[in-house]
Amino acid sequence: MGDSHLPHGRVVSQSASLRAASIEQQIVALLDRMSLREKIGQMAQVNAAGGHVPDHLRDAIREGRVGSVLNEVDVDTVNELQRIAVEESRLGIPLLIGRDVIHGFATVFPIPLGQAATWQPAMVTEGARIAAQEAAAHGVNWTFAPMIDIARDPRWGRVAESFGEDPYLTGVLGAAMVRGFQGNDLAETGSIAACAKHFAGYGASESGRDYNTTNIPENELRNVYLRPFKAAVDAGVATLMTSFSDLDGVPATANTFLLRQVLREEWRANSMVVSDWESIRQLAVHGFTENDRESAYQAATAGVDMEMASTTYADHLESLVKDKRVTEQQINTMVSNILRVKFRLGLFDNAHTDPSRFTAVADPSHLRAAYDAAVASAVLLKNDDWALPLHADELSSVAVIGPLADDPYEQLGTWIFDGDAAHSRTVLQSVRDLVGDRATVEYARGVQTTRSTGTEGFDSAVELAARSDVVICVLGEEAILSGEAHCRADITLPGAQDALLEAIAATGTKVVLVIMAGRPLALEHTVKHAHAVLYAWHPGSMGGKAIADLLFGVVSPSGKLPVTFPRVTGQIPIYYAHKHTGKPATFESFTHIEDIEPRAHQVSVGNTSFHLDAGFTPLYAFGFGLSYSHVEYEHLLSSSAVMTMNGRITFGVDVVNAGPRPVDETVQLYVRDLVGDVTRPVKELKAFTRVHLERGERRHVEFTITPRDLAFYGRAQRLIVEPGRFHVWIGGHSNAELRTEFELVDDHAR
Ligand code: NOJ
Repeated sequence: MGDSHLPHGRVVSQSASLRAASIEQQIVALLDRMSLREKIGQMAQVNAAGGHVPDHLRDAIREGRVGSVLNEVDVDTVNELQRIAVEESRLGIPLLIGRDVIHGFATVFPIPLGQAATWQPAMVTEGARIAAQEAAAHGVNWTFAPMIDIARDPRWGRVAESFGEDPYLTGVLGAAMVRGFQGNDLAETGSIAACAKHFAGYGASESGRDYNTTNIPENELRNVYLRPFKAAVDAGVATLMTSFSDLDGVPATANTFLLRQVLREEWRANSMVVSDWESIRQLAVHGFTENDRESAYQAATAGVDMEMASTTYADHLESLVKDKRVTEQQINTMVSNILRVKFRLGLFDNAHTDPSRFTAVADPSHLRAAYDAAVASAVLLKNDDWALPLHADELSSVAVIGPLADDPYEQLGTWIFDGDAAHSRTVLQSVRDLVGDRATVEYARGVQTTRSTGTEGFDSAVELAARSDVVICVLGEEAILSGEAHCRADITLPGAQDALLEAIAATGTKVVLVIMAGRPLALEHTVKHAHAVLYAWHPGSMGGKAIADLLFGVVSPSGKLPVTFPRVTGQIPIYYAHKHTGKPATFESFTHIEDIEPRAHQVSVGNTSFHLDAGFTPLYAFGFGLSYSHVEYEHLLSSSAVMTMNGRITFGVDVVNAGPRPVDETVQLYVRDLVGDVTRPVKELKAFTRVHLERGERRHVEFTITPRDLAFYGRAQRLIVEPGRFHVWIGGHSNAELRTEFELVDDHAR
């Protein structure tokens, strides 16, 4: 039977597998010609000098001692590096050129946590595609993204780079980002290799302090932290990066369980693995090895293919092979993983970058996509008495206040090495443009920076607020307060911002609070002083225009939280998919600290799981986000009350726009497995979709679930699907009330 009888997907994958087979043959042929030294050379990733090729780097490339260079984005310099590699090294092997292109290149998209709030995989793909094209125009062929660490501790500064707390959402968006960077084919112009990082467990760094130790029981590791990585591997991610952290006493960079058992044996992945910056050398700093030589040995035998920045492989692998501690077969596997990426990228055919083949950076179409993403990422957390949208025609004076209202740089967020603040539109500029001469727009900074404790700017800000019809207050965190190594122990608004907001609120003028931040902040106290709160994260280049358009109703908010917002820092970790416990908290059992009688007795029966001073609920739940309309969910029905092991159930719900304006709603489906081989989360996101509803429109939305969606790792650490009862909720957030249930039955056992 010819190919024409096969479904289209099979035909495509057949030719892809032919190409993969031919790449494997080319790798074998090349390996055959390589000396041990040249093989080890491929494993070295070296930092660039920035804009020129220093002699030591030129020599190293010529001599085949470099496989990759990171942090060079001057295209002429990159072309010269590639020319040296291709024309002047013995085997002419081109270089991987790595760069942290995390949420845009020159055009900056919202931080990944903001992109997660869009709940739109296609939008994440589009942002990554544009970033890839802008980066590729500079000769970059490999980015260190997506970061798919599960982040349940917002003290950790790197929560900004993540897609939030949920394994399913992170997996879907991580795979979407991989597809954006890598395109349909890595060899296409404008495709660059992606890197799923940090493998694995980094998000569990103790006390939310970066680089800190992690202790994650294997069952939680498999059910939570590893799931997005599996999704990225399934999406064909070209590379993975190991984490700086240690996991249950074994640094991730030398962790044979993660790198051998899970990645290679269970998942059968042949992606290339790179260390993090000097994380091989740091194995000795962890106290895991005695010296660099042992670090090289441990990382190599665990399966780290390339060493970023440090030189333990370059210095010691050859002698480790001579001493027969590392086999040449191991070396060949590592080098194959590296060469595979180079072949897939098409670098052996052409390593030269011609920037004229690319759309210019910050092209209007790129800025438009960044604008759309910024609009979709903003989450409306509060909107008392329909304080928003504002109506320019009904206002005569607008006060814009705050240190982030007119700062083109700070709105870009963390990890914007190549971001260009010259492309930014700020809130103040954009409100001025939008309001035109319909009302006066005046600005007061209030505080110098988000961290300033000085109150000298208060008087003029308060005076402006008092004589204005509305205050748009733009507060939050500067970009440098989140990201790598920028963790906070207290995640309330920093500096004097809360005091400023209170003073402004005391004027009685309507206050609309916009927050730009790299993490969910603990805002219980703050939000009381605003009529409306729009959470904009760090929204990127077009953030100001997006925010102005949202505030004035040109567009409507549709973002939903990808992470739970605590009331106070001490509630952390607080996430929706927690376990039920044997003593789950209830509103009936909750006792507030102030309600305890003096000299009250302890009782041996105890109580339930809550904090005396903070309760047990978050300020805003995962999945939550308001709109300028009002959405109702009705008639949750299922196609059956019973699902067999090879069956499926379709759940349907009516989603109704009962409010005054059109709306884009993200409909979410959650499941609870009532009894499990291991205790199961009280709810798990299993599916979501976005629907547009005109005023008064009703749409029927359906989701189909199969037993595969219910699989989890049990006590034997194997993926299982267990018969039993399940609850299902569909709604607009993780506290959705509309619920049904079904039973999964093992028909074979009958
Ligand atoms: C260290 C960070 O942990 C990692 O995420 C990044 O990609 C590398 N440095 C390279 O800059």
